[in-house]
Amino acid sequence: MRVIVSGRGRMGQALRETAPTREGIQMVAMVGRGEKLSSLPEADIILDFSRPEMALHMADLAHERGIPFITGTTSFSPEELAALEIIGKDIPVLVSANFSLGITVLSHVLEEVSGVLGEEWDVELMETHHRHKEDAPSGTAIKLLTALDPGGNRKKVYGRQGFTGSREKGEIGVHALRGGSVVGEHQVHFFGDQETLQFIHRAESRQVFALGAWTAAERLFHMPAGFYSFSQLLFR
Ligand SMILES: NC(=O)c1ccc[n+]([C@@H]2O[C@H](COP(=O)([O-])OP(=O)(O)OC[C@H]3O[C@@H](n4cnc5c(N)ncnc54)[C@H](OP(=O)(O)O)[C@@H]3O)[C@@H](O)[C@H]2O)c1
Repeated sequence: MRVIVSGRGRMGQALRETAPTREGIQMVAMVGRGEKLSSLPEADIILDFSRPEMALHMADLAHERGIPFITGTTSFSPEELAALEIIGKDIPVLVSANFSLGITVLSHVLEEVSGVLGEEWDVELMETHHRHKEDAPSGTAIKLLTALDPGGNRKKVYGRQGFTGSREKGEIGVHALRGGSVVGEHQVHFFGDQETLQFIHRAESRQVFALGAWTAAERLFHMPAGFYSFSQLLFR
């Protein structure tokens, strides 16, 4: 499978390092910001880790060529996600804010746990990333929030600066730490009366995401047109 990788940053580098470990994967090009897309070689799939604007250009290119498109880029606006969903009517499109198996499983577990514990237990989510990360909260934190509150009915409190009064029943606190070289850590705390339950996921290297993205590429290649999540492909 011939792959064009979009994004030459930290994740692009992890994809370059891990590609040789995947039988049948051939990276035919790696494209960065501002590069000419018309001269890119033929490929079977485009795999993107960049920024939303560049990701959308690459999705258009995949659409034009009629090949599948995967993006791990985070911080898409609802309009940008809607545009990707429309492209998914013609080609296979996969969007995932996190390609690790651990986080994919954690999302399922959190939905179950949150459903059982309900609003009687206070929930706080904390994520930590390296000093260069530009978006907050992380795309993964937003994914986990959706798992904790699938209906989107619970109040989210982002940080507690200027917070007055006590915590409201049902709210979910969200906190972001930025520093050093931390690849990615997500903690979810459920506080009950006289007992607590905690889940922690730590990505120890970007290779975790790169290897998951290769698995996604291998699976998406065989799928019909559609708009997919990583867990749909992993657990089908
Ligand atoms: N889904 C997952 O599992 C997962 C895991 C890790 C990261 N991510 C996400 O993947 C994306 C890339 O992460 P990364 O750590 O590889 O980022 P990075 O090191 O900053 O690299 C970003 C790449 O995108 C290009 N780019 C295009 N437009 C840009 C803009 N307006 N501002 C900055 N860069 C721009 C950069 O071009 P230049 O080469 O010209 O700088 C670079 O090639 C981020 O959205 C990140 O949150 C997702």
